[in-house]
Amino acid sequence: MHRPDPHSYYDATQPKARRLRLKLGVDFKAKRIAGEVVLEFGSAFSGPLDLDTKGLEIRTVQVPGHGPVAWELGEVDAILGQRLRIDVPPGTQEVAITYGTGAEAMALQWLDPEQTEGKVAPYLFSQCQQIHARSMVPCQDTPIARIAYQAEVSVPEGLTAVMSAGPVSDEATNDGRHVFRFSMPQPIPSYLLALAVGRLESRDLSPRARVWAEPETVAAAAWEFAGVEDMILKAEGLFGPYPWDRYDMLVLPPSFPYGGMENPRMTFLTPTLLAGDRSLVDVVAHELAHSWTGNLVTNASMEHFWLNEGFTVWAERRILRILHGNDAAALGWAMGQKALEDSLERFKQEPQLTVLRMHLEGIDPDDAFSSIPYEKGARLVAALEKEVGEDRFLRFIREYMDAFRFTSITTEQFCSFADAKLPGALEAVNARAYLDKPGLPDTAPEFRSVQLDTLTKLAESWVAGGRPSAHQIASWKPAELQVYLQKLPRQLTQVDCAWLDEHFKLMGRGNYEILVEWLTLAAYADYEPAFSRIREVLLRVGRMKYLRPLYGALAQHARTRTLAREIFAAASPGYHGLSRRVVASVLESYPA
Ligand code: BES
Ligand code: ZN
Repeated sequence: MHRPDPHSYYDATQPKARRLRLKLGVDFKAKRIAGEVVLEFGSAFSGPLDLDTKGLEIRTVQVPGHGPVAWELGEVDAILGQRLRIDVPPGTQEVAITYGTGAEAMALQWLDPEQTEGKVAPYLFSQCQQIHARSMVPCQDTPIARIAYQAEVSVPEGLTAVMSAGPVSDEATNDGRHVFRFSMPQPIPSYLLALAVGRLESRDLSPRARVWAEPETVAAAAWEFAGVEDMILKAEGLFGPYPWDRYDMLVLPPSFPYGGMENPRMTFLTPTLLAGDRSLVDVVAHELAHSWTGNLVTNASMEHFWLNEGFTVWAERRILRILHGNDAAALGWAMGQKALEDSLERFKQEPQLTVLRMHLEGIDPDDAFSSIPYEKGARLVAALEKEVGEDRFLRFIREYMDAFRFTSITTEQFCSFADAKLPGALEAVNARAYLDKPGLPDTAPEFRSVQLDTLTKLAESWVAGGRPSAHQIASWKPAELQVYLQKLPRQLTQVDCAWLDEHFKLMGRGNYEILVEWLTLAAYADYEPAFSRIREVLLRVGRMKYLRPLYGALAQHARTRTLAREIFAAASPGYHGLSRRVVASVLESYPA
């Protein structure tokens, strides 16, 4: 036995499935998917086959041509779920499993009509990263075992299904349902399996890009993301031809727990990006960049997550620099610095979670999640770029993507490739300090611009009475205001808060980064005029990036703590399971 991924029962001495054939029946009444999966191995084998499952009800396991075969579910592990061991007879090339998803399937959120924009139809979406695919499909749920897939999804007539795959066909069936067929011909890690079902419409943005959303928001979404083709072209200029054919996007209901998820051919996005001024499209640049860094070259397990996110943050800011210039990219790095410092602070009692090369045996990857693999990782990539020069580094990145395309690799594989192609560069930037040591090395690159320096100085002068001029207030772009707010002292007075809101009209902002930064400051200040807006946001939005700081700030004072608990009690049924867990853990660490 050899288990290379601490988060999977996958045994590397057993063959890998190459392809999945899925049939999924979506049952909104029972909040359950009735599934059938055929795992294709491509050649004959026999012996035990270990798959990952979590909360699944396994009905039958068969080998086509042979009939039912013996199987057993192992002990329940709180993080991993249950191993499904199948006794595979000689000559087997395919294994077919019928099953149902569990009521608590972490990959799935079932929304009642009231939780959608249109309020008339239910909605279902999946989120499989990190290790939740196993609660939707029994599979080798590790990025090491890449799979192509095809799927047939049956949904109630009137609803549309989309997946992280190309659409093939769809038709009404005579039982009041509609079947959608998909194909993903390229091998992907299981965490990129994705499905959403709802009342959906789409708008074409270019011959290869389209946005899906509920009819109520699709026009706003098409406007917000109209620049996506230009982004794809810029990314192709850096990293080579876009490898996945189409780049479509889906704008989800507000409970979606992330900002974006790079599901191939169908990026999932939070509706909080619809700021009305295109100011939050850096998230799209990020998810698009994953098409190369993450989806094409993938981390071998969550212990190497920085290979996905660190490279992608670096790539996102490279794209941003081409689209909007140096100053915009420097502001991006500054926001990242703030996120990094917050995460280092959060993990100061758990320094082992601040290294890039993680050791996660027995640790839930969702608990290890932070900005560290993103921002510390991106700083290591940027340090290498600085060390060898931009042109040479970009050539290296292209070689790296060529060498490892459609594979899943470890930090060690990356390092030996870098050592071979850029001899001495890893030592020169002290890569070991990033990979294996906690915190951020003092030699990490810093990103500056005149504008960033101005914003920093001005924010730092707040206590001494420094205030932005009328001209600054009128002319700052959203990113500038965001950085300014981030750099203000956390403990403001009531008068300070009133001044900020009056001059920047913060309460009514459509840009959630600004709105939440402001509401977080207001919560820290126990500033009552903001309470109802905070309640509104927390009742509507489930994006964890916003829940953590807002609930954390509310927890600072007795009366806002009571408010936080009251809001959480009301909001929690509408939150995704992941969001609920994060908020519960934030609030638990404070006295009642
Ligand atoms: N792949 C991540 C989202 C993710 C990470 C889901 C870990 C589950 C587990 C995605 O690419 C991402 O990083 N999204 C960010 C936006 C980005 C601009 C940093 C987010 O959701 O905020
Ligand atoms: Zn990412």
